[in-house]
Amino acid sequence: MVFFRALSALSTLRSRSRSAQQSSLGTSVRWLQMETSSDLDLHGQLKEMIPEQQERLKKLKAEHGKVQLGNFTTDMVLGGMRGMIGLLWETSLLDPDEGIRFRGLSIPECQKVLPAAKPGGEPLPEGLLWLLLTGKVPNKSQVDALSAELRDRAQVPEKLYKFIDGLDVTAHPMTQLSAGVMYLQVQSEFQKAYSEGIHKSKYWETTYEDSLNLIARLPALAAYIYRRLYKEGQFIPMHDSLDYGGNFAHMLGFDNPKMQELMRLYLTIHSDHEGGNVSAHTAHLVGSALSDPYLSFAAALNGLAGPLHGLANQEVLLWIKSVVDECGENVSTEQLKEYIWKTLKSGKVVPGYGHGVLRQTDPRYTCQREFALKHLPDDPLFQLVSKLYEVVPPILTELGKVKNPWPNVDAHSGVLLNHFGLTEARYYTVLFGVSRSIGICSQLIWDRALGLPLERPKSVTMEWLENYCRKAATS
Ligand SMILES: CC(C)(COP(=O)(O)OP(=O)(O)OC[C@H]1O[C@@H](n2cnc3c(N)ncnc32)[C@H](O)[C@@H]1OP(=O)(O)O)[C@@H](O)C(=O)NCCC(=O)NCCS
Repeated sequence: MVFFRALSALSTLRSRSRSAQQSSLGTSVRWLQMETSSDLDLHGQLKEMIPEQQERLKKLKAEHGKVQLGNFTTDMVLGGMRGMIGLLWETSLLDPDEGIRFRGLSIPECQKVLPAAKPGGEPLPEGLLWLLLTGKVPNKSQVDALSAELRDRAQVPEKLYKFIDGLDVTAHPMTQLSAGVMYLQVQSEFQKAYSEGIHKSKYWETTYEDSLNLIARLPALAAYIYRRLYKEGQFIPMHDSLDYGGNFAHMLGFDNPKMQELMRLYLTIHSDHEGGNVSAHTAHLVGSALSDPYLSFAAALNGLAGPLHGLANQEVLLWIKSVVDECGENVSTEQLKEYIWKTLKSGKVVPGYGHGVLRQTDPRYTCQREFALKHLPDDPLFQLVSKLYEVVPPILTELGKVKNPWPNVDAHSGVLLNHFGLTEARYYTVLFGVSRSIGICSQLIWDRALGLPLERPKSVTMEWLENYCRKAATS
């Protein structure tokens, strides 16, 4: 009986994930599901797909290479390249109004179709890794196989911990994470193979090895940094059967099942946000010089550590706490408005609001809000975040220059972590960094598989622009 129930559950799961695969075929996912013995072998699946995708890119270049995609304006050159289409990024695509789609699937769709640790739970981030890499929704067995593979690859050299211990405790956790990744770079198989003269058609294979190793090893490094800084150095070893997100929460010291679910959701939604954001673009750029995934990802982390990008999650919680310090937990709407204006008038941004591309509330904010409504509706800081959602957008709109007055991903994450006991805001961007490895490394593998070239856009001087614009006005 139990056996038949298990069989029927398995077949429901399989058909659920197969229909999800089919539903996404019409968008960016164009591959067919294979039902062979290599089903659980992620590397094998990639190997089969790569020639087809190489052909696709070749055809695109040959048939449409000269099609114009838009016009550049001086504003774009001076304005941080907003709206300029300039790079290929296969794993996700961002719509200004609708938000991110991972291989064609929105966040709510991912929450529906990606396997979870328990029925109805949050998606497992290794399922998202599978999706980003292959464009296919994995079934639970595939995700379990990948979880086990990541655990097998997770061992870090003892010397890494000694290296981290050598860093000043006042060094920001992101500095320690980035330095730790650089320390691990000696393990790069890509670099070794390149120095031995590997053929370029094989670059992706060692990039794949480095990427999976790096993704697997980051939680141990990140957890070590946390326990060293905040828990008297009492390091917690990896659990031998937990999934990636659950294990990371466990190594940080959080075994509350709700916190583990939060970590799975967190690692899933922060992974990828198309290619132009600072961290993703940095990894893509550095990787285009054939720097290995460790070098490329460490560079990305240094970008993520900036307050306008990943560090905003730290800034949000610190800012919210400063509101409470000044006005108390039961802050009135009027007091809140005053505090926001005070922040703006002192030449600062309201952290967690605005975006370079999005023009609506970030769906990554929305799904965290739903998590909070389900698990911590009475948390006073969550209630303050909800109040800010009503008060901040009209004020930013009134400023007259902010293109997107709505909250982004960082406006919410801190209060959730804080609720479950991860209260050290300075550490928050490290969590973002661990998650970002999933998206960045997936794309790096495809960068090498597709043979994408060295990135080298053209720059100009102000004088060049003045002369060009003068000539354009008279012609
Ligand atoms: C994300 C961000 C960097 C996008 O920058 P952008 O694409 O240049 O945004 P805009 O085009 O809307 O910026 C236009 C102006 O509005 C300001 N602005 C944008 N968001 C703002 C905010 N949240 N608070 C105050 N001012 C803001 C900009 O600083 C800029 O001012 P300036 O012309 O005086 O330099 C910006 O919205 C920001 O600084 N947000 C706060 C930090 C944050 O949450 N970062 C995480 C992003 S996921």
